[in-house]
Amino acid sequence: MVSRFIIIILSALMSVTAFARVSTDALTTEMAVNPLGVENPAPRLSWKIITDRNNVKQTSYHILVASSPELLESSVGDVWDSGVVKSDQSTYVEYAGAPLRPATRYWWKVNVMTNKGKCGWSGPAMFQTGFPEGENSWDAEWIGGELPGDIPMEAVPARYLRKSFSIKQSPIKYASLYIVGLGLYEAYINGHRLGDGVLLQAPTEYFQSVRYDVHDIGEFLRNGNNTIGVTLGNGRHTPERMRTMRWFGFPRMYSRLEIVYADGSRQSIYSDSSWKMTVNGPIRANSEFDGEIYDARLEMSGWAENGYDDSSWSAAPVTGAPGGKFAYQLNPPIRIMDVVTPKSIKETSPGTYVLDMGQNMVGWLHSKFRGGKPGQQVNIRFAETLNPDGSLYIDNLRSAKPQDTYIFKGTGEESWAPRFTYHGFRYAEISGLDYAPSANEFMGMVVHDEMANTGSFSCSNDVINQIYKNARWGIRGNYRGMPTDCPQRDERLPWLGDRTTGAYGEAFPFGNHLFYAKWLVDIRSTQKINGGFPDIAPNYWDCFSDNMTWPAAYFTVADMIYAQYGDVEPIRKHYPAMKRWLDHMKKDYMDGYIIERDEHGDWCVPPERPDLIHTQDSTRITDGALLASSHLYYLSHLLAKFARLAGHENDVVSLLDDADKVKDAFNKRFFNFENGCYANNTVTSNLLPLRFGMVPEGYKEKVMQHIVDKTEKDFGGHISVGVMGVQHIMRGLSENGCLDLAYKIATNTDYPSWGYMAENGATTIWELWNGNTADPAMNSGNHVMLLGDLLIWEYSYLAGISNAEASYGYRRIKLKPYIPADLDHVECSYESIYGTIGSSWRKMGENGLEWNISIPANTTAEVWIPQKNGGYKVKNYKSGSYTIKTKI
Ligand code: BGC
Repeated sequence: MVSRFIIIILSALMSVTAFARVSTDALTTEMAVNPLGVENPAPRLSWKIITDRNNVKQTSYHILVASSPELLESSVGDVWDSGVVKSDQSTYVEYAGAPLRPATRYWWKVNVMTNKGKCGWSGPAMFQTGFPEGENSWDAEWIGGELPGDIPMEAVPARYLRKSFSIKQSPIKYASLYIVGLGLYEAYINGHRLGDGVLLQAPTEYFQSVRYDVHDIGEFLRNGNNTIGVTLGNGRHTPERMRTMRWFGFPRMYSRLEIVYADGSRQSIYSDSSWKMTVNGPIRANSEFDGEIYDARLEMSGWAENGYDDSSWSAAPVTGAPGGKFAYQLNPPIRIMDVVTPKSIKETSPGTYVLDMGQNMVGWLHSKFRGGKPGQQVNIRFAETLNPDGSLYIDNLRSAKPQDTYIFKGTGEESWAPRFTYHGFRYAEISGLDYAPSANEFMGMVVHDEMANTGSFSCSNDVINQIYKNARWGIRGNYRGMPTDCPQRDERLPWLGDRTTGAYGEAFPFGNHLFYAKWLVDIRSTQKINGGFPDIAPNYWDCFSDNMTWPAAYFTVADMIYAQYGDVEPIRKHYPAMKRWLDHMKKDYMDGYIIERDEHGDWCVPPERPDLIHTQDSTRITDGALLASSHLYYLSHLLAKFARLAGHENDVVSLLDDADKVKDAFNKRFFNFENGCYANNTVTSNLLPLRFGMVPEGYKEKVMQHIVDKTEKDFGGHISVGVMGVQHIMRGLSENGCLDLAYKIATNTDYPSWGYMAENGATTIWELWNGNTADPAMNSGNHVMLLGDLLIWEYSYLAGISNAEASYGYRRIKLKPYIPADLDHVECSYESIYGTIGSSWRKMGENGLEWNISIPANTTAEVWIPQKNGGYKVKNYKSGSYTIKTKI
């Protein structure tokens, strides 16, 4: 009896230990957790192996895909049973079962075997297929569009749409709402808000491509009668903004609600003229740029529920489609991702109060008000900085008028947050209350695209830590379904050039894979028939300048997704459009293998005078033809790499041939063989050919010396580059033996430097190196383009985490920390698609260095151990956690 008891305990313990020591986790389909509109007919399945043991490698996997959770539970893969596959592949395993049906849900799990034992079956994951990509009709009708009656154009109210319907008295297997709501929407079933996404739908070039969301609604449906309600906001498409922004039309929606019953039958409810609509609800005006007006007296209690009297509403007008092809929005929506509590509130003039959030943030205020009379109005205005007298400084917002207005219904305590606007602000000015509000009646709701926090970095230098913090705030504040340049003024545009290298640096702290995969589609959808790309995508300003440097982002972002996430799909998908663009630029602009045409130059170099936006000093300006032609060389090489990856090997030879000729012509034109520098010897003009591998044999050191001399002698060890140079400066210096100069640039606190921004009160990154003194005409306090390659440097050089040569997706990792003389320690981790990579080092007494590393299961690392002479000893490591002690 006793021995049986012991055996039971022992075996229970053993199974728990086995499970805890090696298990599978983080199941994703197309890199998303339980996505509901998968379009790929062969979705790619991935998992992570979680273990506390060293040297763990997958030896086989077994995947089951089932048509019901019950079948999966009993391990029946009626849709796909992969069988045991001997393979170490744990990411992007292509589904290879029976053809998947559209709008259908599937459940899957995986059993992984490793060299250290079985993982056992994983928990269940799920995915639902969408409608086939590009299919533009789900048998519904577009409703909304033109405004009824004479509504003033500056104040376009939200539309409220509703429909009641009855469903079968039969058990439901699952039910979904497929919906496009443009510009912005919120949907409800029986009064329940669907999902916690805000500012839905992600912006696209609506004439070419439109995203749809899928909401899981089964739990909100009830037998018999049900009601769906949708509110539509303008987003950025207000008639008021039409003067400066391209106009995509009035808000409208298209939806199909689909119920799949347990018996397999389906019922669909479509958007059409049987829906009712009103514009007489509480949201009286709304615009992303100019705020929201909310009249609480007009609230329509129960409007999205059964039994609401909608007799005064009109039939929803049927309207035209925007024209773009439908695609599922795989990237997670914008959500409230954080809450900031205000630091202080001050009365700046009688009855006017200014709230300080302590942080330049993006989102809105959630406010609690007390005791207002019906019709009494509270205004909230927003700004990034203050005038010396404590009032809001709004000159840099240009024509944007970010003001929210709340009109009391008069029921005592009233709380409110806007829905269809957002603001970039640190300060909010509140007026119209009869009492002095206290700071704790307000909360700053931080909104941006939902993304995993995949990285953490800190070190012994406070300046670097503060800049890193500012960078994170800046990056998250500019994720708005697309990467924007700024979140506050009348622009908020997805400029390509701002993210060419930025997207890569951002990919350490933020899991931005799906976000940028979506943006690549936005970029492609703006391509002209002649192959040209605009500078902005979606192209709200209709800005086609046909330059080489801004559209480069289309290439480098695809490359980043490949390098960081191991996903080659974007390269395959976009290769034809990339090739078309490069062919166009060569055909229309290349002369003697040089492209003269350029638009932005080395945008925003630090100017010589505090008030200037752009430098007027010709010795700081890099020749546009040099920028364009060096990019021609660089992008030709990148495209040749893509050609190999995407199965277009035939293109490789001619791409590289042309690139060689570009290099020759470039060096003839710009290189001064006598003194070993490029053009007028700006740091940028030397740095780009150096990093792109264009410098003639034997001259690299000379070119580097010019970069160092210019930086040290002419700029006192400070940055002298703009958006072009800053993408390469930190890596360029560090790779070429000037780590200490890179470190100085990273830690400077006087002008111009990132530290100067922080020193002068920035809690984000400025658009201009002299953002505290420059002309407000173009001077945002929350831009990320000047970050350049700083974050890459922190993760890949200071902490030393990168892909080993020829590896991608961190399957084979290189760990090689650079140890600056002035730094004592670095703590860093990065969550790769295989698991957590860690690299934290600390100097110990007497030249000692202790370095803790972790290498995820199913990967290996090439570990560069710092040595006394400044060199490294390279060792191969299997997965696991290790402490390395060395002398430096
Ligand atoms: C934007 C920048 C952009 C630039 C290009 C500015 O107005 O804010 O982010 O790259 O224009 O001209």
